[in-house]
Amino acid sequence: MEQFKNYINGEWVAPKTGKYFQNINPANTEDIIGKFPESGREDVNDAVAAAKEAYKMWKRMPAPKRGDIIRIAGDLFAAKKEEIARIMTREMGKPVFETKGDIQEAIDTAYYSATETRRLFGHTAPSEMENKMNMSFRLPVGVCGVITAFNFPLAVPSWKILPALAAGNTVVYKPSKDAPQAGVVFAQIMEEAGLPKGVFNVVLGKGSMGNMMVEHPDMNLIAFTGSTEVGFKIGEVCGRTNKKCSLEMGGKNAQIVMPDANFDLAIEGVLWGAFGTTGQRCTATSRLIVHKDCYEEIISILAKKASALRIGPGLDDSTQMGPVVHAQSLANCEKYVKIGLEEGARLVIGGQKATGGILDKGYFFQPTIFADVTKDMRLFKEEIFGPILSISKAESLEHAIELANSVDFGLSSSLYTRNVNQAFQAIRDIEAGITYINAPTIGAEAHMPFGGVKGTGNGHREGGWTVFDIFTEWKTVYIDFSDKLQRAQIDNY
Ligand code: UN1
Repeated sequence: MEQFKNYINGEWVAPKTGKYFQNINPANTEDIIGKFPESGREDVNDAVAAAKEAYKMWKRMPAPKRGDIIRIAGDLFAAKKEEIARIMTREMGKPVFETKGDIQEAIDTAYYSATETRRLFGHTAPSEMENKMNMSFRLPVGVCGVITAFNFPLAVPSWKILPALAAGNTVVYKPSKDAPQAGVVFAQIMEEAGLPKGVFNVVLGKGSMGNMMVEHPDMNLIAFTGSTEVGFKIGEVCGRTNKKCSLEMGGKNAQIVMPDANFDLAIEGVLWGAFGTTGQRCTATSRLIVHKDCYEEIISILAKKASALRIGPGLDDSTQMGPVVHAQSLANCEKYVKIGLEEGARLVIGGQKATGGILDKGYFFQPTIFADVTKDMRLFKEEIFGPILSISKAESLEHAIELANSVDFGLSSSLYTRNVNQAFQAIRDIEAGITYINAPTIGAEAHMPFGGVKGTGNGHREGGWTVFDIFTEWKTVYIDFSDKLQRAQIDNY
C-alpha cells in the first residue's frame, strides 16, 4: 500500500510520530487509497520553522517574480487536470466532471493571483501639509496556517494558499484527513513549479494537529474553511494568541422561487444546488422556499427529477451524484431524516441509504426532499452537509426573504423571478454574502469576493481582490521633504 509523506522545507519526510492513518474511497470501502502521516507537534514545529526561515527571502522576492512561479503552478494544474481529477474523485467521492471544475478553480486562482502580483495596488493621498506626501502599500503578514475541508480539495485551499504566496507570505497547509492526497498533489505541483524550499509546506494529520498549528506562537495567521463548531474554536484561540484569522464556516443556503419564474430553470438550479457534490458544499442549496402559488407544482416536478438522478461512483462517467464522504456523514444524513420525520416534515422522496449492486460498497445516500418544513424545525436551521433538501412555503416575496434570513448563517442565496423590481429588492434584503439571480446557490468564480455574513464567517472575503485584505497588512508612509518639523494637526491649523 502506498505510504505518503509530509512536504517540509522542500523535502518529502516521514512524520516524526511514526504514525499513519488510512484513507479509503467512499464509493468503495474495499479500495484503500493509502497510508497518510498522522503528524504531531514536532512535525508542525518543523514546518513552521521552515516557513519562518523561508519568509525572510520570499517576502523580499519581487512580487512579479513570485507571480511567475504561481503562473507555472497554474499551467501544471491545467496540464494534469484529468489525472488529478481522478485522484480527488477516488478519495472524496464527487464525480470527475466536478473534480475537474474544482481543479479549474485552482487554475483560475493561480492565474488571477499571478497577475495580481503586478498590481497589489496601494493608495496615495494628499498630505495636510506642504512638501509632504502620503502613501500606503501592502506587506505580507508572515507565516500563514491554512486548514481546509474535504469537499473542494484543491479549489478552496488554492483560494488561500496562492494569494497568500503571491503577497509574500509563507504557508503551512493541513488538508482534510478525508482528502489528504490532494494536499500531496498541491505540494508536488508547487515543487515542480520551482517554489523555493520552505515557502510552502504540507503537513498531513487529523484535527488535533490542526490545533497545534493554531496554537503555534510563530504562526501569524490562520485561514480556515470547515465546520462552524471548529471555526469558532479556532477564532477563540486566535483571539487569545492575537493571530489574524479568517473563518469560512457553515451555510444553510436558500433558493427562492416566485410564481413568475422560469420553472424548468429553477428546478434545474435546485437540482444542481442541492445535490451537486452530494450536498456537501458550504454553498449547497439546503432550503428551497417556494411561493404558495407554485408550491405543489414545483415539489412534484422536482421530486420526479431528483428521483431520476443517477447515483454511483464518481469515477463512472454516467454518475450524476456520488457518495457522501464517510460513514459518519451517512449516519448524519440518517439522523436528520429521523429528526425531520419526528418534527412533522413531509418526506417527499428518499430518506435512506442508497443500496443495490455497486452502491452497497460505498456511502451512498438517496437524494432526499422534505416539504412543509417550517422555520422552527432543525431541518430548516441546521447545516446537514448531505443530499437533503428542505422545502418551505412562502406567502409573498417579503415572507420568503424573512424565511431565508431566519437562520444563523448567511453564505449564499438565490432568487428565481422575471420581475426586475423583486430581484433588486431581494439583492438588497437577503442577508448573505452572495446572492444569485436566476442561478443556483453554487457557482462562485475565483475573481469575485467569496464569504458570508452572520455565523458563516468573521468578516473576511476570499476570492478576487478582497483576499489580499486577509493576507496583507497595510503600511502607511509619510514622506516629508520640507526640511523642517511639521507637526500634524498643530502647525497647519
Ligand atoms: C465550498 O463549498 O466550500 O460556489 C466552496 C461554489 C464553489 C465553491 C464552494 N465554486 O459552490
